[in-house]
Amino acid sequence: MKKLIAAVAAGAMLTATGAFAANGQQVFQSKGCAACHNPNVDTVGPSLKKIAQAYKGKKDELIKFLKGQGKPHVDPAKFAIMRPQINTTKSLPADQLEALADFILSH
Ligand code: HEC
Repeated sequence: MKKLIAAVAAGAMLTATGAFAANGQQVFQSKGCAACHNPNVDTVGPSLKKIAQAYKGKKDELIKFLKGQGKPHVDPAKFAIMRPQINTTKSLPADQLEALADFILSH
């Protein structure tokens, strides 16, 4: 139920800020990625800064990873924790996936 409310609230936020351009930061937050990924500090997962460095100039590869077609580059030993999250990202529409990749790479 809590999840449902959060999803509805996130949907309302998306509509309020413009339904046309997908917002990568909102996707990142509404899909729960922020629970394990901090912008600058490694927590459960590597920081967004570290991920952005690893995928600098390789947005296509990052999108591939998020679609479940790539291999982990940043911290392969911990990939078991990240793997289930890909079930979420691989079903995102292409524009949201693109916006999400742009948001990650902006760090
Ligand atoms: C339960 C904790 C957790 C959540 C939630 C989580 N991640 Fe991760 N993520 C990790 C861990 C741990 C790694 C390190 C393993 C790895 O490099 O794949 C990682 C790695 C990554 C990487 C680097 C991949 C690489 O090449 O190594 C990306 C990109 C990423 N996460 C994106 C996301 C996105 C987008 C979301 C939200 C849909 C998300 N993560 C949610 C824990 C999490």
